[in-house]
Amino acid sequence: MESVASLVKVSLPKYLQGLPIPSSLGGFASLSGQDWLALVPFVGTVSLLVYVTVRAFTPPAKPKDVPVNMKIQKESAKVVNMVDIEDLGDKISYCRCWRSKKFPLCDGSHNKHNEETGDNVGPLVLQRKEAAK
Ligand code: FES
Repeated sequence: MESVASLVKVSLPKYLQGLPIPSSLGGFASLSGQDWLALVPFVGTVSLLVYVTVRAFTPPAKPKDVPVNMKIQKESAKVVNMVDIEDLGDKISYCRCWRSKKFPLCDGSHNKHNEETGDNVGPLVLQRKEAAK
């Protein structure tokens, strides 16, 4: 702890007093190459501190919206599937994740998608009341 106190109370003020910082903006024009080199660590450290502080108080960039449908019938302006209600049977699962290889039916691909992305999508399951019992 004593070394930190010595650094803050003795070494740092001594270092800062030794920096060739001119008293006016015009004074920067008269600095030598060696003076500029002496300022590099100070300017770099201050820049880093400012950057870290600004980043800490700046909200992260909002991710851009990505398409839900990554590969199914991309040549179509709109993907529409028609199903005759008489063909539904007792139970059928329709994909809502757009990753099924049997689209529009669910093939379980949502499980892999959920594992990889942290998402929680699942199928739309249509089931007759009598079949659920
Ligand atoms: S595969 Fe897409 S919801 Fe199951």
